[in-house]
Amino acid sequence: MHIDIVTVLPELLVSPLGHSILKRAQEKGLLEVEVHDLRPYGLGRHHQVDDYAFGGGAGMVMMPEPLANCLDELKSRREYDELIFMTPDGVRLTQGLANRLSMKKNLLILAGHYKGIDERIREHYITMEISIGDYVLSGGELPAAIMVDAIGRLIPGVLGDETSALFDSFQDNMLAPPVYTRPAVFRGWEVPEILLSGNTPVIEDWRHEQALERTRQRRPDILTSDE
Ligand code: ADE
Repeated sequence: MHIDIVTVLPELLVSPLGHSILKRAQEKGLLEVEVHDLRPYGLGRHHQVDDYAFGGGAGMVMMPEPLANCLDELKSRREYDELIFMTPDGVRLTQGLANRLSMKKNLLILAGHYKGIDERIREHYITMEISIGDYVLSGGELPAAIMVDAIGRLIPGVLGDETSALFDSFQDNMLAPPVYTRPAVFRGWEVPEILLSGNTPVIEDWRHEQALERTRQRRPDILTSDE
């Protein structure tokens, strides 16, 4: 999969994409992420990318021309399955949406800044608008990094143990069961006996029960969700 990210703050994306699973995915050639600085597409001597909002009001708006020029150039290089704009008024990112996006070949993610981007870019270029939750961040860079992480780890072959993503919270409309590691007794706190039994089918049943119980208690809404 290839993901292009367009931003005015490329540095914000370097570290989140350069470690752990995402780093390995890129090293294995399963995921390619390119971060594109919008600034060179800016206008005039100062490479201006934002301007005051028509009609007044606080906050700067990202201008259409630098964005359109940047997006045109990227679109001439490859065919995108989706051009995604990260915005708090988009559809909510869920595990279901991450699953669907992980099957795509080429994605472009636009991380907006300032007060937003000129609406005409949203109308004429963007095919999907995604929010990572009902709160407002100062820009779309961290949301973009979160999306790439959620999607990247679902690409087949990225996770060492092929099955491990299948047991993630939310994957079957359920939260994950509790997990334990050594020592079996820590400060007198014991690991549930069943996990030490070596009886795999019984352990699997126990995990399922625990996951179900945890979901009923904490997130009954996802049990019936069709995501
Ligand atoms: N940009 C600012 N806040 C955001 C959010 N919650 N989701 C996606 N993009 C954003």
